[in-house]
Amino acid sequence: MTEIRIEGADIIIIGGSSGMGLVLARRLLAEGAGVTIAGRSAERLAAARRQLGDPSGLKTAVLDLAREEEIAAFFRDCGPVDHIVSTAADIEGAYHLLPDIQLSAAQRVVESKFYGPLLLAKYGAPRLPPSGSITYTSGVAAYRPAARGSVVAAVNAALEGLVRALAVELAPLRINAVSPGWVDTPIWSFVAGDAKQATLEAMAKRLPVGRVGRPEDIADAICFLIGNGFATGTILHVEGGHRLV
Ligand SMILES: NC(=O)c1ccc[n+]([C@@H]2O[C@H](COP(=O)([O-])OP(=O)(O)OC[C@H]3O[C@@H](n4cnc5c(N)ncnc54)[C@H](OP(=O)(O)O)[C@@H]3O)[C@@H](O)[C@H]2O)c1
Repeated sequence: MTEIRIEGADIIIIGGSSGMGLVLARRLLAEGAGVTIAGRSAERLAAARRQLGDPSGLKTAVLDLAREEEIAAFFRDCGPVDHIVSTAADIEGAYHLLPDIQLSAAQRVVESKFYGPLLLAKYGAPRLPPSGSITYTSGVAAYRPAARGSVVAAVNAALEGLVRALAVELAPLRINAVSPGWVDTPIWSFVAGDAKQATLEAMAKRLPVGRVGRPEDIADAICFLIGNGFATGTILHVEGGHRLV
C-alpha cells in the first residue's frame, strides 16, 4: 500500500478560517504539512493566521466557492497540492420554516456545500497526485433533520451522493466525507443565535457521549480520511451517537 504521509504534504482547507477547518489547520501544521486556508473574508483569514501563530508553513487565499472563475484561477496558480479539504458552509439565513425560506439563502447553502464541492473536484482533482484525496463535510442533519433545517438536511444528503459518485469517477483519488454531529463552532450563531449555549447544552444531555462535539473531534476524523489509503467513498459519522437518539 502506498503510504499516505501528512508530514510534508501540501493540504488546502476551504473553510480553514473558522471552526473545524481552523482547528484542522492547526493540527496539520503541527504534523508538518504545508497548509493553505481559504475562505471569502480576508479579515477572517488574517485573524486565523494570527490565531495559528503566523507559522511559516501557512498560506491564505481569498476564495468564494460560489464563483467558478475564482476556483479555476486558484487551482491554476496554487502550486503543489496533495490533499483538498472543504469545511465551508454558508448557512446564514437558511434555518427557517418553509413559509420564511428565501431562495437566495437556500442557494448559498447549495453553492457552498454542493456546487462548490463539485467545482473543487472539477478543478482540483487534475492537480492531485494518484495518492491524493478530497475530503468534504456533510452533517447529521441529513439523518436527523430538524424543522427549520430542511435545506441543510437536503444539501448534506446530496453532498454524500456526490462523494460516492466522485470516488468512482476520480479513482484512484480517494473522495470521502466526514459527517459531523453538533459541534460547538461559530456556525451556531447562524443556527440558534442567542440560544446557542442552551441549545448545545440540551443536545449534550441527549447524546450517548454526554457532550456535543469539539472541532478537534472532526479534525481528527478528517486526518484519518486523508491518511488511510483504503478509505474512499466513505461517509465517516462523528456525531456522539446522535443518529441513535
Ligand atoms: N458545527 C456544527 O455543529 C456542524 C454540524 C454538522 C455539519 N457541520 C458542517 O461542518 C462544516 C464546518 O462547519 P463549522 O461549524 O466549522 O463552520 P464555521 O465555523 O462557520 O466555518 C465555515 C467556514 O466556511 C467558510 N465559507 C463559508 N462560505 C464559503 C464560501 N462560499 N466559499 C468559501 N468559504 C466559505 C467561512 O469563511 P468566510 O465566511 O470568510 O467565507 C468559514 O471559514 C460545514 O460544512 C458545516 O455545514 C457543522
